[in-house]
Amino acid sequence: MAEPAKNQAVDRTRIFYVPERARVMTTRQEPSATFVELGFEDGRPLNHHPGQFVQVSVFGYGEAPISVCSSPTRPESFALCVQSMGNVSRAIADLTPGDWVGIRGPYGRGCFPIDRMKNKDVLLIAGGIGMAPLRGLIQFICDNRDDYGRFMVVYGAKTPSDILFREETEQWTENPDLDFYRTVDEPDDEWEGRTGVVTEPLKEIDIDPENTIAAACGPPVMFRFIAMDLLKKKLPEERIYFSLERRFKCGIGKCGHCQLNDLYVCQDGPVFRYADLLKRTEAGEVWAPEKDQDTA
Ligand SMILES: Cc1cc2nc3c(=O)[nH]c(=O)nc-3n(C[C@H](O)[C@H](O)[C@H](O)COP(=O)(O)OP(=O)(O)OC[C@H]3O[C@@H](n4cnc5c(N)ncnc54)[C@H](O)[C@@H]3O)c2cc1C
Ligand code: FES
Repeated sequence: MAEPAKNQAVDRTRIFYVPERARVMTTRQEPSATFVELGFEDGRPLNHHPGQFVQVSVFGYGEAPISVCSSPTRPESFALCVQSMGNVSRAIADLTPGDWVGIRGPYGRGCFPIDRMKNKDVLLIAGGIGMAPLRGLIQFICDNRDDYGRFMVVYGAKTPSDILFREETEQWTENPDLDFYRTVDEPDDEWEGRTGVVTEPLKEIDIDPENTIAAACGPPVMFRFIAMDLLKKKLPEERIYFSLERRFKCGIGKCGHCQLNDLYVCQDGPVFRYADLLKRTEAGEVWAPEKDQDTA
């Protein structure tokens, strides 16, 4: 892919729409997603918080919001995990080392509450591609393990070949510092692990509701059942966080495409405290799949 012209003399702190060039360092194809590791030209870190996203542009194809799936504690590069859905995500999946992309961000003021989680037990629930943003948080907590209490992660994928970060999730299963539960909805002949939806292992886990913070990311339909299970465990709404997805355009609170009542998911989120969402929306709106809309 040809190297684009440099945007010299552009003040990126004021002109939010101007992407910065980043080079593809490595790529890895997993059965259901592509993993891309990127670095800025000048070697500076992305300086993101777990839960933030970047707007990725592939020249000639367009731009899409993608969660950063690596931890800021590993600043030499940053990583994305992308499922091919349309033009831009397919173009990202086709990138090869040495290619250039444009990056705006990191964006999102609502991130995972890494400070509030300190000295607390942490329970994370990931469904499908929702593992991408949570993987950055898992790495972050593993890299600062002494700052956090008991650490539990539940991950559900549709089939064994849909499991993201296969090798890494196998290592997490062996990690004594992490209670990791991995389940698939539809097993194949070789699968020897758990079977069932993501809320099945969640039901088995005993938590201390006074001392636990939970965060979940995945398809909206999953949130409803997770919220019900966590509330049954007496975890208050103030300590439950959901990472929401909406159709984004600008990513910075200007265009209104991602609006959920008076919230801009891109700017106020994408991670929200459940209690705050309930104050401003009907519960159903939080987990209703977004209606297809004209994104022009
Ligand atoms: C904060 C945020 C973080 C994201 N992180 C990731 C990530 O880490 N990895 C990843 O693979 N994808 C992620 N996505 C989703 C990704 O941005 C969309 O799939 C994007 O539209 C891909 O662009 P495209 O041009 O390839 O597909 P498009 O042509 O835009 O869309 C392809 C299909 O996906 C549907 N679609 C597009 N966006 C969404 C959405 N937000 N919710 C539901 N359906 C949608 C469209 O209706 C269409 O049917 C994220 C989205 C948001 C808002
Ligand atoms: S995507 Fe434009 S306001 Fe959120």
